[in-house]
Amino acid sequence: MIRLLQFTDTHLTADPAASVRGVRTLPSLEACLAHARRRHFPADAIAVTGDLVQDEPAAYGALELLFDRLGVPVLLIPGNHDDPEELSRRLSHQPFQFGGTRVMGAWAIVMLVTWFAEAQDGEGRLGAEELRRLEAALEAQRDRHVLVFLHHQPIPMEAAGLDALGLQDAREFRAVIARHPQVRAVVWGHAHQALDVFRGGTRWLCTPSTCMQFRPRDPGFAIDDRPPGYRVLDLHDDGGIATEVVWLEGYRQ
Ligand SMILES: [Fe+2]
Repeated sequence: MIRLLQFTDTHLTADPAASVRGVRTLPSLEACLAHARRRHFPADAIAVTGDLVQDEPAAYGALELLFDRLGVPVLLIPGNHDDPEELSRRLSHQPFQFGGTRVMGAWAIVMLVTWFAEAQDGEGRLGAEELRRLEAALEAQRDRHVLVFLHHQPIPMEAAGLDALGLQDAREFRAVIARHPQVRAVVWGHAHQALDVFRGGTRWLCTPSTCMQFRPRDPGFAIDDRPPGYRVLDLHDDGGIATEVVWLEGYRQ
């Protein structure tokens, strides 16, 4: 079995005392990591799936310090609030991996970049090149189970405001996934809430943020009462996935 932990939308600020929508994001990430280390370590890898910083690349330094010391490979992809060039420049050394594919036993983990320079308002796009890379990765991993991570939601989440800022080429993405039945799950962040549905033989999972959450199915961006969270994914050799969202119940700042 492979154990993966996913932390997403950490939204770190250059000033650690600053807050994003009422939550100081560094202490809430630290609380998530401490909780995970207590409850769910050892892990085989960690995925950090975008919006690592709140538009302030200086905050990559704090992220580096926090994840460097865990002794576990850390797979990274950017979100709309990231600076992918700066992120890959600062966090490509061991134990970090920016994008790409990572083979772990019976599984291959494919990390996709949905950040694109022309984005207007936080939406995402894979584009032809990243879609080709996905297709090639899936062709090369026909004999493994595959888990795909990306930042933006590739299916509607029944929330008009968020859905307008989803993956613009979701249809093309889902067509590639549909051609490759070894893809067991697609996992993302961005929407700051939890979702776990099966469609077309694939499992589609959204993971809440390590800071604040949006209320599910809200047409705008109403803040939910839910605390910080992260996801545990146990990937079994037969392709089965045991996963749960862990909420930091009782978390107060
Ligand atoms: Fe995002």
